[in-house]
Amino acid sequence: MDELDQAAPDRAAESEALPPDDEDVEEGVDRRKFLARGTLSIGVVLAAGWTVPAAAYVFGPARKSDTTEEWVSLGAANKVPVGEPTLFKTTVVRATGWVTSEEEIAVYVLTEDGRTYTGLSNVCTHLGCRVRWVDDSDGFFCPCHNAVFNKDGSVATGPPPRALDAFELKVEDGQLFVKLEV
Ligand code: FES
Repeated sequence: MDELDQAAPDRAAESEALPPDDEDVEEGVDRRKFLARGTLSIGVVLAAGWTVPAAAYVFGPARKSDTTEEWVSLGAANKVPVGEPTLFKTTVVRATGWVTSEEEIAVYVLTEDGRTYTGLSNVCTHLGCRVRWVDDSDGFFCPCHNAVFNKDGSVATGPPPRALDAFELKVEDGQLFVKLEV
């Protein structure tokens, strides 16, 4: 074995011990950056994949403002005597966001001819007390501040700023229906 052969393993060991040159360092840094960015991108995509549907699930119903109008049955039309407002009650279920609530709706139904019907709310337009029909006075009386509404719902006396709210009614197969927002 000559001197050159003896020196070869020493040089190999030497080159292993030497610090990497600039090109190796840059390549390593680039690979690390690439892996880091790739991992970050995958994380962002996965997070978006979970977050967007979750947010839609949580906030979707709360953003809904989809009130619709429905015809709700009140009862038989022949229960309404001609010329005398008659009180009907029904219950509607309302969903606002995550909250579901039941609300009782009361409707005074009036007919003067037994064919066409009008509906009035029993909620006073002053501060929301319930009015009631008083035959002797031929009007709706509000006990809270002694207001009186005429048979057609207009204000006769007292502080209410406007007439009783009107409901749209229809009759189908002898049944009264009222149009309500639900
Ligand atoms: S609430 Fe009806 S008059 Fe005031």
